[in-house]
Amino acid sequence: MSETVNNSVTEKQSEREQFVTNIALESFEDSPNERLKEIMQSLTKHLHDFAREVRLTEDEWNAGIKFLTDVGHITTGTRQEFVLLSDVLGVSMQTIAINNEAYENATEATVFGPFFVEDAPEIDNGGDMAFGAKGQPCWVEGTVKDTDGNPLPGARIEVWECDEDGFYDVQYDDGRTATRAHLFADENGEYRFWGLTPVPYPIPYDGPVGKMLDAVGRSPMRASHLHFMVSAPEKHTLVTHIFVNGCEYLKRDSVFGVKPSLIKDFEQQTANTPTPDGRELDRDWARARFDIVLPPAK
Ligand code: BEZ
Ligand code: FE
Repeated sequence: MSETVNNSVTEKQSEREQFVTNIALESFEDSPNERLKEIMQSLTKHLHDFAREVRLTEDEWNAGIKFLTDVGHITTGTRQEFVLLSDVLGVSMQTIAINNEAYENATEATVFGPFFVEDAPEIDNGGDMAFGAKGQPCWVEGTVKDTDGNPLPGARIEVWECDEDGFYDVQYDDGRTATRAHLFADENGEYRFWGLTPVPYPIPYDGPVGKMLDAVGRSPMRASHLHFMVSAPEKHTLVTHIFVNGCEYLKRDSVFGVKPSLIKDFEQQTANTPTPDGRELDRDWARARFDIVLPPAK
């Protein structure tokens, strides 16, 4: 019997496989774009290593190609299944980690998600971004500062979230705008607004990515969260969320977006507890604080 490598293939077979990898890698050698060459060679090497490591069968490779074809077919201008795939594989969060290297005390970034909309309505500081959507009222307040602790007056704060039924406004087909807005920090870098207490909801799971999650026994649920995008002149724009302390999905968020520093207490208040802005509420409400620190622009 011939000698085997890694208990699976003979040395001769391994050489044959390595030969295929080598000629595929060499095919990029003359690329006029050095960075593209680096990326394509690394991608090719890792794909070959993957196929060899799992001893990929031709049926399995064909199933993989069919899966990617289905991902392409369901993708439209408003449904981005490839981004969803990147999200559930943790590649989105890994890219965010690489590109938002921890900077002093700056607030951590997390995944953007598909439900941001440009030109969301402006609300006054202290205004209501729920616009009548269903859910428990939630007062959110905090500051926007730089890494030296200086307030950033006029910082732009975009916020968006789902309603109590787990849907963003853009998931309804009636053209509504709700649970999204932008506002500006005041002269002390402080902001405040009314929104809804976030609830857990599933990422879109009626397509190939959802089928894949089901096949591997994974849940599509995201831990309850409220999205923020915060920008100020000469500062790195922060895309992040805050998560609700105690949410059952914090440890198994389907897109790996949770970072401990972003988990906040959403303190429950009983009906008729006086509100920070004097609004009368004869139902339970909640309040949360999120102090934001922006790093300098790169
Ligand atoms: C979201 O938080 O809105 C989201 C993020 C990633 C995939 C799907 C949804
Ligand atoms: Fe979300």
